[in-house]
Amino acid sequence: MRVLRNSAALKAADCLSAQRYLAASARNARNARLNISPRPSAQRLTSATGIRCFASSTSRPNMESYLAKEPAAPEFKTASFPGPVSEKAIAELDAVFDTRSLNTICDYKKSYGNYLVDLDGNVLLDVYAQIASIPLGYNNPALREVAQSEEMVNYIINRPALGNFPSGDYAELLKTGILSVAPPGLNQVFTAMAGSDANETAYKAAFMYYRRRERGEGAEFTAEENESAMRNAAPGSPDLAIVSFKRGFHGRLFGSLSTTRSKPIHKLDIPSFNWPQAEFPQLKYPLEEHVEENRKEEQRCLDNFEETIKNWHCPVVAAVIEPIQSEGGDNHATPFFFQGLRDLTKKHNMLLIVDEVQTGVGATGKFWAHEHWNLSSPPDIVTFSKKAQTAGYYFGNPELRPTKAYRQFNTWMGDPSKALLFKTIVSEIKKNNLVEHTAEVGAYLYSALESLAKKYPDQIHNLRGKNQGTFIAWDSPRRDEFLKVAKTVGLNVGGSGEAAIRLRPMLIFQKKHADLLIEKVEEIFKKW
Ligand SMILES: Cc1ncc(COP(=O)(O)O)c(C=O)c1O
Repeated sequence: MRVLRNSAALKAADCLSAQRYLAASARNARNARLNISPRPSAQRLTSATGIRCFASSTSRPNMESYLAKEPAAPEFKTASFPGPVSEKAIAELDAVFDTRSLNTICDYKKSYGNYLVDLDGNVLLDVYAQIASIPLGYNNPALREVAQSEEMVNYIINRPALGNFPSGDYAELLKTGILSVAPPGLNQVFTAMAGSDANETAYKAAFMYYRRRERGEGAEFTAEENESAMRNAAPGSPDLAIVSFKRGFHGRLFGSLSTTRSKPIHKLDIPSFNWPQAEFPQLKYPLEEHVEENRKEEQRCLDNFEETIKNWHCPVVAAVIEPIQSEGGDNHATPFFFQGLRDLTKKHNMLLIVDEVQTGVGATGKFWAHEHWNLSSPPDIVTFSKKAQTAGYYFGNPELRPTKAYRQFNTWMGDPSKALLFKTIVSEIKKNNLVEHTAEVGAYLYSALESLAKKYPDQIHNLRGKNQGTFIAWDSPRRDEFLKVAKTVGLNVGGSGEAAIRLRPMLIFQKKHADLLIEKVEEIFKKW
């Protein structure tokens, strides 16, 4: 169990550990340059199952000792990828589970820190991180420790149907975890299970809010509404819409899929809502050289947005948008566009839903990516999942709670065990200043990539993500080939959209990892 400390002691300890972490980062970067393996600084035990764990002590193991035990560099051992052991395991799995989307078959017991280990023992520097979903590294000791706590065991084996039977400590768990990092201006949460689920429940909240205002405060549902709702017809089941943006991605469940516009393969054969899509800016890079053109493009998209919602056949109650369109190809827009969008949603009495499922939790160098924008008022709803390990949506206006119980409800409504994981993640992020750290490492990585792009202009196009932490991407003329070859030099990298290579390292990614990444990317370019 975590040892309780008073707040002064906690602050001092946090400060000390952050200093140690930064000192370790500097030392590791220097060691990496000098090719020195880090010195092991804490006793490591190997359990009977072969799982690496830390000697338990009264205080939580620190980030420095954790990172010191990472492999010094990636190591690709097999003649091809996947190697023979992986091939065999994939065949076995394929007999019972569709493996056509399989990327790497992993050994999570051996994976550590920023390194993912496959079944053949290939050690890959992981800058994809389970599709942008691992914040603190594999087998992070703080998470291992909380996973073994009484609190966690209780949450796992006595899982509550949260809407009906929350435990007495759920408010405390929310306040000290999920809500402790609520975006500015938002102070309530609806907890959910995954990104799509978070978005869908947010859409439902938006529709119910719209009808609440239309119907008038306190008005009861009419007999006609009750009867028509059961026939999926108006007025009970009204014709209302959510607008999303071309190339956006918001999930694959029924409602969220109607707002997803990234690739047809996700949508084919699935009936969908007749909802509008607006243009998302297509910026030209480098941004500094195309300021005027890009401004015009963003204004064009704002005008298109307004036209689209004004002319739609039914009321468009909310707009949903990603701060950086991730699955759709890492498409960025500037604060000008998002400020304009916020103002237009206000002007037309619509809600602004910001989907931070992929951008949230530190990767852009702010805890929430929309904090880069300086909006005139906060978004109405912000959805989250992935690195939070839990999911849901934040909101501030109490009227976004439906007028009656059970209108926004399901059996689990989230999961306290995942909320506890997020609380620990948040605590580690704060303790180790990982958001600021990611901003700093991201700037370092971006400038190294800028130099590489100058050296290999045929291979790196449209480098993007400046001042956006490690949320960096570029377009490659040989993208799919690059992703395959990357494995053979010891990199696990992801793609997005048609041609983008997207970097999604963890928040514990350091300058020494950035150096290794650059070295490996160049190794690929040299082969070509
Ligand atoms: C921006 C965004 N929204 C929603 C989702 C859907 O999340 P999930 O796959 O957890 O349902 C994703 C998943 O990649 C995403 O990137």
